[in-house]
Amino acid sequence: MAPNPKKAAGERAADYVNNDMIVGLGTGSTAYFAIVRLAERIRREGLRIRCIATSERSATLARELGISLTSFAEVLQVDITIDGADEVDPAFNLIKGGGGALLREKFVASASETELIIVDEGKLKRRLGAFPLPVEVVPFGWQLTRQRLQALGCDATFRSSDNGPFVTDNGNYILDCSFGTLDDPPALEREIVGICGVVECGIFTGLATRIIVGKPDGSLEERTEPGILG
Ligand code: 5RP
Repeated sequence: MAPNPKKAAGERAADYVNNDMIVGLGTGSTAYFAIVRLAERIRREGLRIRCIATSERSATLARELGISLTSFAEVLQVDITIDGADEVDPAFNLIKGGGGALLREKFVASASETELIIVDEGKLKRRLGAFPLPVEVVPFGWQLTRQRLQALGCDATFRSSDNGPFVTDNGNYILDCSFGTLDDPPALEREIVGICGVVECGIFTGLATRIIVGKPDGSLEERTEPGILG
């Protein structure tokens, strides 16, 4: 069977987790493999951890696998979070939110000492922007929020699901904003989150501390310092 780069990266990431850590569980098809591997380590090695999930989907998976969950009612700091990304640039800027979990993902990342990002090679970009930028907005007046976002130079598409609007775990909507290449991700992030009606945006800057890249041949590349990957 051909190697699965997402699985390889996810499983490697789970090696960084030690006893008594508070662990952030990411969302998506790559984070899935890290969560499954953590559950295996709990069963086989008796690994003692408590986790905070970045989405209801990941919380459900964790519960099904017997991983114990905690919340910010009990802990205010996270030792390590393992999460995927939609794009990663050489400066460790990210686009996230393809799965619609960007608000909790950024919240948990901002509380984490180590933010470990796991991706396959196709997510590595010299410049961000080919992937439309997810922006979480409050339902009230979202049409005006879209107009304000479009004034920044994007085409903003309302995200739908099979049953109508895509609604986030926080009861909000997502606008997928096609800006094209992002010249200055940190500046754009600041501009977007400054718009009234925007809850959070999928540009993550200054949060990732380690990137693990899964390659098609099953090998891995890891970096803790910004620089060209891949
Ligand atoms: C969810 C995310 C995911 O991390 C991102 O979409 C990558 O997902 P996948 O690992 O399935 O490619 O940001 O909101």
